[in-house]
Amino acid sequence: MQLPNFLKTPMFQQRYEWITKPLDFMEKAVKQYPDIFTSQILGANKPIIFANHPQAIQEILTNDRKKFTAPGEANKTLQPLVGDYSVMLLDGDRHKRERKLLMPQFHGERMQTYGNLICTITEKVFSQLPQDTIFTARNVTSEISLSVMLEAVFGLYEGERYQQIKYLIIEMLDLFRSPLAFAFLLFPILQKDLGNLSPWGHYLRQREQLDRLLYTEINERRSQSDITNRVDILSLLMSAKDEHGNSLTDKELRDELMTLLIAGYETTATAMAWGLYWIYQKPQVREKLLEELDSMGENPDPISVSRLPYLTAVCNETLRIYPVALATFVREVQEPVELLGYQIEPKSEIWGCIYLLHHREDLYPDSKQFKPERFLERQFSPYEFMPFGGGARRCIGYALAEFEMKLVIAKVVSGYNLALADNQPEKAQRRGVTLAPATGVKMKMQGIRPPQKSVVSAVGK
Ligand code: HEM
Repeated sequence: MQLPNFLKTPMFQQRYEWITKPLDFMEKAVKQYPDIFTSQILGANKPIIFANHPQAIQEILTNDRKKFTAPGEANKTLQPLVGDYSVMLLDGDRHKRERKLLMPQFHGERMQTYGNLICTITEKVFSQLPQDTIFTARNVTSEISLSVMLEAVFGLYEGERYQQIKYLIIEMLDLFRSPLAFAFLLFPILQKDLGNLSPWGHYLRQREQLDRLLYTEINERRSQSDITNRVDILSLLMSAKDEHGNSLTDKELRDELMTLLIAGYETTATAMAWGLYWIYQKPQVREKLLEELDSMGENPDPISVSRLPYLTAVCNETLRIYPVALATFVREVQEPVELLGYQIEPKSEIWGCIYLLHHREDLYPDSKQFKPERFLERQFSPYEFMPFGGGARRCIGYALAEFEMKLVIAKVVSGYNLALADNQPEKAQRRGVTLAPATGVKMKMQGIRPPQKSVVSAVGK
């Protein structure tokens, strides 16, 4: 099979570098082959093409239901976590149907309700941090993100079941955090139930417990008469019907809940921790942001906050410089295609490389510098800036993730005096399939920031 710009480094070295130092691996490769190259990070029989030229990305993502597909099979390592009916594992028409049921739940007027919820949870979590103590931003944003998931997505509030589900989710995801543990997902041969003391056996028992709780919740919800008045995503999904009038089965509901959780909880928490890091690392950014936030007065409406131009630019620049997801899911070539002058044959597998796209000097000069202004000065196309991927598998929760990121950052920066606890620059490190701050961002709580007198913002003018 003809493949563009095959990397010459030995396969094992490529795999090792991709797992341990993914940014160094990609930056070394792109110096040699700037727009597109083929790697062997997944093994000799599974070459992966990394494409980062906007023209190639546009060609792939606008045709990924015809010339290309976005095969669910490529995500099957996640099956033990998300189940067989997860949107991530479905293909073709079933995948389309599932997205149609899921997508509307993350848009429209329900965002207002989620907005109030996000602000209340943020306030609750931050107000409990003792003054003059050091905390890890990522742990705190994880607490917020998980609570938002449980309340907005699962519709669960305080109570025994809420606490049990929260505990089990944290435990289960912890199991897959280290590269060694992640190997259990990569290599099905390791997935042997050798009793509760073996890692896989322990995981299976926790999963059974969690499933029992989720099915009990679903059953109780089905018997409630007020389900149509509820605005959480589980209730909305339970009432949603496809064009044939079919609704989701209990198993499908369970698998989609797990999918949204796995895809949405840690990613959003990491993005928010990065955001806080950059804001407190760059005093000018913080000042400009505070000026904009203070111009909104006390307790501004969440939707208006989410439209603030400088806050939006800060969040975009955060997602650009260290995108939480390094690449899109796999796209597979279906018919002979030409990409950037290279002939690519059917069955070839391609990743749209988000990290390398976001560091193209022709799009983002001084790409290693954090400069939110670039998003005020220029409008980037969806093939130039794509933290949430695109096309057939574009992130389903992107609107919720962006909204949450903006509201949490706005609430924290305007409501508290914080500082970074460490002067060393934060390094980016692989955490499962995401790119996260290596230390989690150590910060110091210095107390409440009193409300400021409203000023007219000069930001963006
Ligand atoms: C900052 C936070 C997030 C980032 C950076 C992110 C990024 C991504 C990316 C890059 C993809 C793959 C897109 C592609 O292949 O073209 C994706 C898919 C997905 N994301 Fe997100 N995501 C985030 C938050 C969320 C949230 C909050 C949810 C749900 C509540 C979510 C649910 C999903 C789902 C279900 C898919 C799979 C879609 C499919 O298979 O059709 N994500 N996300």
